[in-house]
Formats: sequence, structure tokens, C-alpha cells
Amino acid sequence: MSADQARVLVLEARGLVKRYGVVTALNGADFDLYAGEILALIGDNGAGKSTLIKALSGAITPDEGEILLNGTTVHFRDPLEARRSGIETVYQDLALAPALDIAENLFLGRELRVRGLAGSLLRLADRPRMLAESRAHIADLKINVGSMKQAVETLSGGQRQGVAVARAAAFASRVVIMDEPTAALGVRESGMVLDLIREVRSRGTPVVLISHNMPQVFEIADRLHVMRLGRRVATITPASHTMTEAVALMTGATAFQGKDE
Ligand SMILES: Nc1ncnc2c1ncn2[C@@H]1O[C@H](COP(=O)(O)OP(=O)(O)OP(=O)(O)O)[C@@H](O)[C@H]1O
Ligand SMILES: [Mg+2]
Repeated sequence: MSADQARVLVLEARGLVKRYGVVTALNGADFDLYAGEILALIGDNGAGKSTLIKALSGAITPDEGEILLNGTTVHFRDPLEARRSGIETVYQDLALAPALDIAENLFLGRELRVRGLAGSLLRLADRPRMLAESRAHIADLKINVGSMKQAVETLSGGQRQGVAVARAAAFASRVVIMDEPTAALGVRESGMVLDLIREVRSRGTPVVLISHNMPQVFEIADRLHVMRLGRRVATITPASHTMTEAVALMTGATAFQGKDE
């Protein structure tokens, strides 16, 4: 996207600070996510990437700073509140329930209930509807699994990641955040997850992607948010910088000069 095109800010953070005892995980971190983009968060181990997305998704509460969704300040007390606001997150340590099947995982925490029982104490889970909708979501994203009744613990790593991404894509109305979604995957499965990410973007939902895989990041991201020592040090694009230059910014070998993208 060119700089003179009007960009719509969806999710924003200003001056986030998060301390764990003597460790300062976030040290005045800013963040901007625009409509329809894939934003890659890059930085060395311990730079604060996971902590930043945990703050954005309600998994932790920052000590200082402000988060805005569509221009309004938000205070998420837990991930459920963020999810209700349309922010879906696939965490680094995958949050699927292994013993449950695909449909149950897709609707975990928001089971569909049988209609027509409003006001009744007996709100039965609508299993047929959840199975049908799960099938539609999975097919929609072209994920290759057999039955929606298959337990997640029997799926391959790639299929499991597919289910986690499908769940996020199905319910996110505003933002999808993914922390290293391809870290444990082979080439084919990684390619599948990248296709899913593009699919989500093509529906207009912006995606935040954390990855250490530079070729992958440069292939898929519209912009790169570079983190170092708990703060954003630069925003660049695959066109404005080379991989070597991006790595130099991450490690602090060079300081960022020029204009943020
Ligand atoms: N719950 C916690 N308790 C104590 N320290 C923490 C906690 N979570 C994160 N930290 C520390 O905060 C810093 C940032 O961690 P974070 O997980 O955000 O890094 P990261 O950029 O995601 O790294 P990686 O690439 O290795 O996943 C690290 O020094 C880490 O040890
Ligand atoms: Mg991390």
C-alpha cells in the first residue's frame, strides 16, 4: 500500500509497558495495524513479541500504556473479552483441547445452543449445527481433514494448526493474531497455513503474524514491525528493506534511519 493511500487504523497501542519482576518485557511499545494488511512482528528471542500480542489479545494486562480498537480505548480483562470484540488469537503454545473433536474445538467456549429455548434453563448444545458449520469453515479454508468428529490429538501438526487458524478465521470480525503458526510445521503444512493467512486477508481482516522465518515473512507480509528490547524500533516493508537489513535492525547492529512505513 502506498503512503498516500488512506489507511484505516484498526488496532493501535501506545507506550505499552509490562514488567515481570526485574525483567521489562515491554518497554514503551507502540503498535499500529491497518485494515486489510498482513503485519509481521519480527525480533530476536525475548524481544517482547509474544508479550505484545498477549497484551493486545487480553491474555495479560499491561502496567502502562493504551490500546485502541477502531479508535476507542479498550481494557481487555481476559482473552474472552478481546474475542467478543472481534480479536482472535492463535497462541504460540497452541490452545486446542486435544481430547475434543474438531467441531468441539471450533466452538470451544461459544457452543451453539438449540434455538427456541430462549429463557429456558435447558439450553441444549446444537451438535448437528456445530458439525455442519465446522464442515463449512474447514472447507471454506480448504483444510484437508476427514471428519469433524476426529479428535484433535489424532491430527497431524499441520492439520491441528489448520484447525486453530480456522477457528480464529471463523470468529474474528476485526483482527487475527498468530504467534509463530508455522514454527513446528513442514514445508507443505507451512505453505497451507500461509495460504490460510492470505485467505483471511482477502476477506478484509488484518492479520498479525509473528515469525522467525525471514523468507516466509518477506514473502507474505505487507509491512514488518521490528521489535527490539521491548519496543518497536522500526516499521519497514519487503520493498523498502532487504532481509539482511531487517536482521540488522532486529539485532541492533544498525539503527533505523528514514521514514516508518
Ligand atoms: N510470564 C513471564 N514471567 C517472567 N518473564 C517473562 C514472562 N513472559 C515473558 N517474560 C520475559 O519477557 C521477555 C520477552 O518475552 P517474550 O515471550 O515476549 O519474547 P518473544 O519476543 O516472544 O521471544 P521468542 O521469539 O523467543 O518467542 C523475555 O525476557 C521473557 O523471559
Ligand atoms: Mg514468543
